[in-house]
Amino acid sequence: MNPTRNFVSDFREAAPYIHYLRGKTLVVGTVSGLLAGEPLKRLAADFNLLASLGVRLVWVHGARCQIDQVITEHGGTPQYYRHRRITDDTTLTHAKYAVGALRYDIEAALCSSLPQSPRRSKPLTVAAGNFLSARPLGVIDGIDMGYSGVIRKIDTEAVLNRLDQQALVLISPMGYSLSGKTFSLDMYEAAAALAVALKAEKLIYLVGQDGILDSEGRLKTNLSAQEATDLAQQQPDSPQSRLLRHAVHAVENGVTRSQILNGYQDGGLLQELFTRNGSGTSIARNAFAKVRQADSLDIPDIMALIRPLEEQGILVRRSQAYLETHIHTFCVLEHDRHIYGCAALKTFAGHNSGEIACLAVSPDTRDGGCGERLLEHLCQAARRQGLTRLFALSTHTGEWFVERGFQPAAPETLPPERYQEYTANGRNSKVFVYPLGETV
Ligand code: COA
Ligand code: ARG
Repeated sequence: MNPTRNFVSDFREAAPYIHYLRGKTLVVGTVSGLLAGEPLKRLAADFNLLASLGVRLVWVHGARCQIDQVITEHGGTPQYYRHRRITDDTTLTHAKYAVGALRYDIEAALCSSLPQSPRRSKPLTVAAGNFLSARPLGVIDGIDMGYSGVIRKIDTEAVLNRLDQQALVLISPMGYSLSGKTFSLDMYEAAAALAVALKAEKLIYLVGQDGILDSEGRLKTNLSAQEATDLAQQQPDSPQSRLLRHAVHAVENGVTRSQILNGYQDGGLLQELFTRNGSGTSIARNAFAKVRQADSLDIPDIMALIRPLEEQGILVRRSQAYLETHIHTFCVLEHDRHIYGCAALKTFAGHNSGEIACLAVSPDTRDGGCGERLLEHLCQAARRQGLTRLFALSTHTGEWFVERGFQPAAPETLPPERYQEYTANGRNSKVFVYPLGETV
């Protein structure tokens, strides 16, 4: 394909996301393996790009590999219990050393002027500090977890102030107690807690796998909170389950989306944020697509859906003016601020019949039940309006309606005004009728 055409269509796909992300807060948690070499450089460049688009960024970094390495270099063996580090005095000293060094590396990477960086002359300001207070995890199953802690409070106001000053807020997995002690924290937990406290738009985990995988290793691209919880329960002690539980906690407490993706994939973060299908797993509180009443802002999307079908003669042509005056009769199927389907319910004055019209689902979303959801929505709307029969006129899709309980009917059974139009337009569509009162 012509590369320019690719660029143009990709840019068009990205445009609504660029607009939507401006001014939004994203909390990004990154596993420690990503924080060196090329992956770190690429991440820093992508964060610079996002900041230049007005995205408010909170970067929560892990430090597991770096702490393990310092412990090993000093002749020790990292100790864990239930995926949490056991932090004795010596381990805490090593952890402070490792996290301090890592922070310098991250700050340096954020300053480095990459050829493609949009902020070559002015580096992104980084704000770090004592934003997290912590308390000890305590003794678990008889094991003293030492200086491993859990978050007690977040200084949300201080973080928000730094974000308002256009700084990237960098959070290390360390928290402080009121008695002045330092505790090592879990990156996943810290990121989820921050996302909730800041009422972030998104919580993003950049990890070492492609996203959330099912038991056969296949990527799950979209999950509802319930589906994610069910998946977590399949292997309750696995690292993926821990990740899922934090991701679900965030969406159940006000964060719009938790997204989990492969941080090693060059451009994976940008692909997730600026394309419709993303690159990893997106988790939202509720099932993703919803049917809602259309409004005039949906007209360009509806036109984009129906024009190709009109050109093929599958749908009758509707002008923009027609759509503007009849938009109140339309419903749309929306997913992630994109319109994937539409349908209209036409009613006839003095008649208790309605017509399902202009039913269309975008080609890349067909066979997923969207058409049926739109139909169901209109059946319910028709019942609420006290209609007793629904018609559908179709040149190509009769079987689809028949399989959903519609029956062939004679054109003469149409409301008189519709019958007149039917005979005048010469489309010779087949007529189907559905008696309301029965469930579709
Ligand atoms: N005739 C018969 N069956 C059809 C069909 C057709 N023209 N188009 C799709 N189907 C079948 C699919 O094969 C699939 O069957 P399966 O579940 O056995 O695999 C099933 O319908 C899919 O149903 P669903 O997922 O609920 O529908 P959808 O989201 O794919 O949307 C349409 C269905 C008809 C709205 C969609 O195919 C479309 O937009 N078509 C073009 C526009 C059109 O014909 N509109 C109706 C004008 S009256
Ligand atoms: N770009 C959109 C967003 O960030 C959609 C991403 C969809 N991602 C997915 N894994 N299904 O919200």
